[in-house]
Amino acid sequence: MPLNPDVVVIGAGAAGLMCALTAGYAGRRVLVLDHAKKPGRKILMSGGGRCNFTNMNTGPGNFFSNNPHFCISALKRYRPEHFLELVERHGIEPVEKAPGQLFCADSSRPILDMLLTECDWAGVEIRLDTRIERIERQGEGMRLSTSAGRIDAGIVVVATGGLSIPTMGATGFGYEIARQFGLQVTETRAALVPFTLTSLWKERASALSGVACQVEVTCNAGHYREPMLFTHRGLSGPAMLQTSSHWQPGDELIVDLLPGTDAYDSLVQARHETPRRQLSTWLAERLPKRLAQALVEWHGSEGILAEQSNRELEAWSERLGQWRIKPAGTEGWRTAEVTLGGIDTSAISSKTFEVKGLPQLRFIGEVLDVTGELGGHNFQWAWSSGVACGQSL
Ligand code: FDA
Repeated sequence: MPLNPDVVVIGAGAAGLMCALTAGYAGRRVLVLDHAKKPGRKILMSGGGRCNFTNMNTGPGNFFSNNPHFCISALKRYRPEHFLELVERHGIEPVEKAPGQLFCADSSRPILDMLLTECDWAGVEIRLDTRIERIERQGEGMRLSTSAGRIDAGIVVVATGGLSIPTMGATGFGYEIARQFGLQVTETRAALVPFTLTSLWKERASALSGVACQVEVTCNAGHYREPMLFTHRGLSGPAMLQTSSHWQPGDELIVDLLPGTDAYDSLVQARHETPRRQLSTWLAERLPKRLAQALVEWHGSEGILAEQSNRELEAWSERLGQWRIKPAGTEGWRTAEVTLGGIDTSAISSKTFEVKGLPQLRFIGEVLDVTGELGGHNFQWAWSSGVACGQSL
């Protein structure tokens, strides 16, 4: 390989491409390496195929990290409106599906095409299908041994992402490099991932597969009012994905199936005003019909409201307002959107993303111990950390 680049970026994903194009425009000779045959595969599959590419309300409070201040500087410098401006310059029409959450209209492809076009304009070279075998210090720079030969570079930026979806090229490579150079890696865990249930609850959820409703779910410090979805394996939907970032094995979820309603007061009032109405009808007016029917079957109390004692209404109020469910686990790396934990940021500069004391080695994006909530925050972190690092190269 004849080229001796100023910068090698490992990982042609969201953060790596953003860093590469920023450094390329600053006049650096940049080479991006990836072991996958195609770049940006997670971008393509993200947001249900429509890439939730940012969240206009992103702030440090949307991120989990042992060092909550670490993300502040980069998020402040390259904000959602900067990325939106880039997207609009490329003629991509954003669609706001929920407050602040911006998606592509039809497909994620235009976001990846935009990044690849910008890399091309910035003179960045991208080499795919290239295995990195070793990285070592070489004087003031770095030396890489790869399946395509030896490469000497001034600086190496590691942007290899997290562990989720190994079939899409995810590896723990970034963590291995960090450890090689004496950095700590905090415990990693699959997050933004559906919950699994076992035995009776698995059967019940499976029978309701496809049914969704708005809930309010609480687990430890996590508290989300979003839709929940029953699946063949358990519980999913934004409410459950968000909650998975707060959940530890053995924890119980408390689900309010009628958020914003005092179920007991409402039932007592309905019994007074419409005593001959079936309980199942009352439930079906507030919940998806299949779920309402299932609740009555599970708890065996069919009948009209007038037949329900205060005690029975209290029991219903608890079932609806505080459904307690203990997941057996999560679906794990196979379907998780992100990795909680990662490279400990205490040894990394929050301005340049260099390893303190070793400025020729940098880490950006999801490989770091910075993980966003659902809703476009993870991509915004990839863009912000990529730009901050790229500007400093
Ligand atoms: P990213 O994973 O994008 O890129 C890492 C790159 O490194 C890959 O190209 C990989 O092949 C390469 N690599 C790994 N190991 C290597 C090795 N050993 N050698 C060479 N190359 C290597 N976020 C969001 O904000 N909005 C959304 O809509 C979604 N949706 C979504 C859906 C699904 C199904 C998933 C799995 C994830 C999301 N996310 C998301 C999360 C988002 O995709 C993620 O946070 C970013 O892609 C992280 O960007 P990075 O560049 O850090 O890693």
